[in-house]
Amino acid sequence: MIKETIVLTQSNTAYDFAGTVVAITGAASGIGHKTAELFARSGATVALMDLLPSVAEVASALGPTHQGWTVDVSDAASVARVANEINAQFGRVDVLVNNAGIGPLAPAKDFPLQTWDKTIAVNLTGPFLVAREFAPGMLARRSGRIINLASQAAVIGIEGHLAYCASKAGIIGITNCMALEWAPMGVTVNAISPTVVETELGLSGWAGETGDRARAAIPTRRFAKPAEIAAAILYLASTEAAMINGANLLIDGGYTIT
Ligand SMILES: NC(=O)c1ccc[n+]([C@@H]2O[C@H](COP(=O)([O-])OP(=O)(O)OC[C@H]3O[C@@H](n4cnc5c(N)ncnc54)[C@H](O)[C@@H]3O)[C@@H](O)[C@H]2O)c1
Repeated sequence: MIKETIVLTQSNTAYDFAGTVVAITGAASGIGHKTAELFARSGATVALMDLLPSVAEVASALGPTHQGWTVDVSDAASVARVANEINAQFGRVDVLVNNAGIGPLAPAKDFPLQTWDKTIAVNLTGPFLVAREFAPGMLARRSGRIINLASQAAVIGIEGHLAYCASKAGIIGITNCMALEWAPMGVTVNAISPTVVETELGLSGWAGETGDRARAAIPTRRFAKPAEIAAAILYLASTEAAMINGANLLIDGGYTIT
């Protein structure tokens, strides 16, 4: 099994993001936090955004050049305010990682409308709102990268995941459209679709026997580690990935081929 430390070492040495400004939503925990850490270690300046005010301390723990902003990605005014502040602080954003997400579960038959609306607002409208703020600068400079967190739930059905699956399938849709329209102007847009990742969100839905059954159904027989998702995000942001556009990179241990 690949150890997390090996992944971290490879990411540190493979890419040099010095002079690059990276904005990450949902950066106070889980995949977003690990991604912020790897970008920071690779020389980038990182703007961390999260609903949790603790994002400020998370950012300063990465080093003095990084900064945290409290934002609700589902609120257009909140996103516009924070995007203006980030652009004013760092001058531009070169890489956007649309990572903030929620995963409330309920049976399809009784799925509450409020839960549906909230999931779509955070997981799908959010990435649209954030991209809408940062893409114009990238397009004007004819250079940029947008990486959207989808999920294996974008391409398969999972019990209890009605709104989550819909929101993540929508992410593939907006990724395709942005990739089509923006790549001619130097901005590539891609999606990443993990299986269950060992974060608070992942483990809350896949604890105990449910988790054991899920792990057994994955050909690699384990869940993904946050660092494995972060490493792929850094790759998609790298010069080496310049020709990858409109892709949906499944990081699922082979689950969706079963
Ligand atoms: N963990 C998994 O199993 C898994 C699998 C596939 C895809 N994903 C996706 O990866 C992304 C990150 O997931 P994670 O496991 O790191 O989750 P997490 O719960 O650890 O982190 C998500 C972060 O998003 C923030 N957030 C939630 N709502 C927000 C809002 N309205 N505005 C701003 N920030 C908000 C949370 O405060 C949290 O810090 C999500 O989009 C998720 O759907 C996760």
